[in-house]
Amino acid sequence: MVIGLFGFGTVGKGVFDILAQRADMRVKYVLDLRPLPEVTTAKVTRDLEEILSDPEVDTVIELIGGMNPAYQFVKKSLLAGKNVITANKLLLSTHYGELVGLAKEKGVSLRFSAAAGGGIPWLVNLSRAARVSRIASVSGIMNGTTNYVLDSMDVLGKDFDEALGEAQRLGFAEADPSSDIDGLDTRHKTALSANVAFGVAVEDEAVDAFGIRFVKKLDTEYWKEKGYVLKLIGKACRVGEKGEAVAAYVEPTLIPKDTPEGNIHGCDNIISFEGSHIGKTHFIGAGAGRYPTGYAVVQDCVDVAAGLGGLYHESLVPTPLSNCKAAHAYYLRTDFTSDPFFVRLEKTPAGEGWRTTAVSVSEMHDFARRALAHGKEVFFAGFPEF
Ligand code: HSE
Repeated sequence: MVIGLFGFGTVGKGVFDILAQRADMRVKYVLDLRPLPEVTTAKVTRDLEEILSDPEVDTVIELIGGMNPAYQFVKKSLLAGKNVITANKLLLSTHYGELVGLAKEKGVSLRFSAAAGGGIPWLVNLSRAARVSRIASVSGIMNGTTNYVLDSMDVLGKDFDEALGEAQRLGFAEADPSSDIDGLDTRHKTALSANVAFGVAVEDEAVDAFGIRFVKKLDTEYWKEKGYVLKLIGKACRVGEKGEAVAAYVEPTLIPKDTPEGNIHGCDNIISFEGSHIGKTHFIGAGAGRYPTGYAVVQDCVDVAAGLGGLYHESLVPTPLSNCKAAHAYYLRTDFTSDPFFVRLEKTPAGEGWRTTAVSVSEMHDFARRALAHGKEVFFAGFPEF
């Protein structure tokens, strides 16, 4: 395999190091805007066309991240007939149908194992499970930063700002951690997981996402006493009478302490699927980091070299989400008590807020968006079945 590697940041360097130990794979080019004097075994270039026009290069690895220029680079690579391996969850979850369609049309592989779960062999096993079984749901803690923050609040009794500041000082959280704490990172991973599990192409932005920005110590303390741990969970499941529709959402979730999800600490992730034949299966491990993520990318290289295709189904059905058909109880703390939805909610007092009876995911997320648009305070957490 002869490779063009796009991007030489944290993960790019990890992939480069791992590939350097293999005789069957050669990085011929590294595409980066910076001069990279430490790269002596590959040509460093800024010229995408130089790589794409080289017939010796059969595979490109995109680790630039973000939407642009990664989107154009990946599209051009597929059009040029190169296999593409990427860890780019934003790109894939936003342009899934188009890029998978293009890979199929050109007869090349598009693999993205590292885009959800980092080093955990999640998407690859999910796609294998979906070949044989009907997947009913995927769910889990897919973001290490938020798990670190919530774990510090739960175990050490820290408040949100203190826990986040510490995560930033230790280098776990980004300088701008919005995408993590507002649930967008988990949203991309949930959308991708739904696509692989159900053979659909859900629209990333249609996945309801409410993060942990507004959580307070009083929320975690109150529920800890009652045997619950707060976690940010991404979930996608089949809904409707015959499971004909799909719901997908990201929300803070109150989880009984005696569950696998309730015992994930630090930056670790846990992701699970539930399928016919196999039941519920959990995957736990490092969801981020140079070498765990680099490892997953190189696994994709090995699979491409072995002639495996993508992680997707033969069919790819654009699917509008039906979050109105998924419902469970919620903990809700808000001062937006004049809103008609709040007034008609069946609820009992719980801590500084209320515990509701089952309401639909879309109604609760809509309410939170309305509250925030009115400058009101709102925090909620779901109580799904475990
Ligand atoms: N920011 C992500 C996390 C990195 O905290 O899990 C891995 O996608």
